[in-house]
Amino acid sequence: MRACLTAAVAAPSVHNTQPWRFRIRGNTVDVLADRRRRLPVLDPRNRELLISLGAAVFNLRVAMLARGRVPVLRLLPDAGEPDLAAQVTVGPSTRPPETALMLAEAIPRRHSNRQPMRDLRVPAEALTDLSAAAEAEGARVVVTDPLARDAVLDLVRIAEQRRRHDPAYRRELGEWTGPRPRRRDGVPPEAFGPRDALEAMPIRDFSVVRPARRCGPAPFERAPTIAVLYTRSDTPYEWLRCGQALERALLTSTVRGLASTIMTQPVEVPDLRALLEDPADGYHAQAVLRFGYGPPGAASARRPLTDVLVRTGTGPRSRTDREAGPAAPADRPAR
Ligand SMILES: Cc1cc2nc3c(=O)[nH]c(=O)nc-3n(C[C@H](O)[C@H](O)[C@H](O)COP(=O)(O)O)c2cc1C
Repeated sequence: MRACLTAAVAAPSVHNTQPWRFRIRGNTVDVLADRRRRLPVLDPRNRELLISLGAAVFNLRVAMLARGRVPVLRLLPDAGEPDLAAQVTVGPSTRPPETALMLAEAIPRRHSNRQPMRDLRVPAEALTDLSAAAEAEGARVVVTDPLARDAVLDLVRIAEQRRRHDPAYRRELGEWTGPRPRRRDGVPPEAFGPRDALEAMPIRDFSVVRPARRCGPAPFERAPTIAVLYTRSDTPYEWLRCGQALERALLTSTVRGLASTIMTQPVEVPDLRALLEDPADGYHAQAVLRFGYGPPGAASARRPLTDVLVRTGTGPRSRTDREAGPAAPADRPAR
């Protein structure tokens, strides 16, 4: 169980907020949203919070399967406990499938890579694998052609520039990028990456509030591989599925020797998000993804398991629970 939870917390999360808590009851892990770690400016509907939780759920599932137990998953299982995002129960024994072993092994090696990548084409079979990985979890990864790629990157750039000038956004970003003693969350300066000299690759600028921590400008790859992740609907249930699809696609890219970057800026601005979507097919854009060959990304710290485990029992509330105060009014999850 410890190994499985360690895999879960290695998942990517927006601004490395790690907005999760875990409660173990018998053979079941309850995955809970930690709303103290939400981003009210960037993510007012908790969409990215639930995508982050979905990514942790995927790692939990894969880690169990790689250890020879079938994970039994329930998403949003209890309308009376809206923060309970998922339940993953250790099911019957099984022979671990090869794919699960490879994906589980990739979990600690996957890091967001915000560095320039090499000018090498990603082979078509690798891109087919990424799309199939997302598809297996009920989402869609659409790899752009050069024309669509440039249009998508334009939207990322416009969103990034608008956000950089928004004082509330800057304040919130500052909270998750600032130094703090013994900090085990947020995005550390080693992971910021350089700014593209020509701003052709508009990766989120985490140094915007602390320009002193910025690395010098650098030229990025000329023909990046850019994809868009879509889901069929836009509900909390679907965001949890989307997070699983996202992590499955990212881990598949790691297995394939690819580096990856998540870029969600245009999805956070409603009028720009609409331009990523085709009303005729009804799919909802959830993230822009970049894949390529590059140096390994820098690891970002994770909180220890003792910080994310919720104690169960009927005794006095744990320190974590007391700090949380009364539960915040939650969005009613739509199924
Ligand atoms: C929903 C979601 C949105 C994210 N958006 C961005 C983004 O816009 N730009 C970026 O550089 N990283 C983005 N990330 C990546 C996180 O910053 C990253 O996962 C986190 O800092 C932990 O680092 P790691 O991925 O290297 O483990 C996002 C991750 C998630 C799950």
